[in-house]
Amino acid sequence: MSVSTTRPEAGQAGYDLNTNAETWRLFWHPVATLHELREAKPGGRGPLRTTLLGEQIGIAEIGGQVIAFEDRCPHRGVALTLGWAEDDGLRCRYHGWCFDAAGTCTEIPSMPADQTKPARAALTKYDCEVRYDLVWVRLDGSADTVLPEFEGWSDEAMHCILGEPYTWPCSSGRRMENFMDVTHFPFTHQGTLGAPPNTVFPVFPMDLHDRRLRWKTETFLAHNPGTDTYGPPADENSRMLPPAEYVIEMPFTITLKFQWSDTFSTQIFMHATPIDEVTSRSYWFTCHTVDDSADEVHLQLQDMVLGEDLPVVSSHQPARIGDAAEELSIMPDKAMILWRRWIRELDAAAAKGVDEVWKVLEKVELESTREQVAAGTGPR
Ligand code: FES
Ligand SMILES: [Fe+2]
Repeated sequence: MSVSTTRPEAGQAGYDLNTNAETWRLFWHPVATLHELREAKPGGRGPLRTTLLGEQIGIAEIGGQVIAFEDRCPHRGVALTLGWAEDDGLRCRYHGWCFDAAGTCTEIPSMPADQTKPARAALTKYDCEVRYDLVWVRLDGSADTVLPEFEGWSDEAMHCILGEPYTWPCSSGRRMENFMDVTHFPFTHQGTLGAPPNTVFPVFPMDLHDRRLRWKTETFLAHNPGTDTYGPPADENSRMLPPAEYVIEMPFTITLKFQWSDTFSTQIFMHATPIDEVTSRSYWFTCHTVDDSADEVHLQLQDMVLGEDLPVVSSHQPARIGDAAEELSIMPDKAMILWRRWIRELDAAAAKGVDEVWKVLEKVELESTREQVAAGTGPR
């Protein structure tokens, strides 16, 4: 594995929990929706400028292929995204050098025909895939990590709606923790997802396996806003939020599934892309069992919940998860405690090498199975 020699010492770097950008460069992150790429420039092929882990990158469709590249022309270092996409090339706006989908410089207009192009005249490219109508980029492919799985997308019984991505002044870690945290429901989402006095939530067994942290919750007392789809508003004694399953695919993807009835289920898929140490951009879908409900119903519920979260999550000090010892954790914060531990382990492993990263990703701790076995109800 190629590890940057400039990598800071463990615990000294600037991302969540003092982790290193080099670690998160090993993973896939969405950097734009396919729609945003199509809308970026006339012709629908980009280029579109975006930022990932503090790095300015460009995406464009060249020769029918969506590619990602360092947003810097090798000639004089200007932004390539100021240029334009042609049928088979990306053209720099300054002196018109042109690059194909492989990154090779195919044309230097000012150079006489009898001269040879410099060998280093090429784009710096990154791994790039279009999946789930999102453009995903991996800045460092050396660990051969895989794209997050989105079950709802491949389930024909589900209808998936792509929400408007949102950029928040908080780290990816802060956004992830806000998503996996249920004890804020009765306060931040009072009247929407919860209300006092229903403030104590059971702490369920949590499993680590297959690169994922998973746990299931039972129906719990909560309010909801009252819609045809989700049922009438609850009073404080109603059981409104149905059984749910949380699945976190390391490091920054989360799927939350709700089973509202035998025939109706919903699913939220979200990835919190690290723009830089203290800024995240969340790409998300809300999915539900195919029915005749309007997309607006589902988007409005999410918008209301996100609007309640935004002022709180924007106020974190610091905006990233810094030294965890400066905060207090209690048992109901268990999901976040486990996620933080795994994040630190991944960062420490990445400093040692690619095999170590996979050892940490593939570790298995089956707490639910252990509890079932202890109770005599689980597999033996
Ligand atoms: S800077 Fe791009 S062609 Fe000169
Ligand atoms: Fe929230």
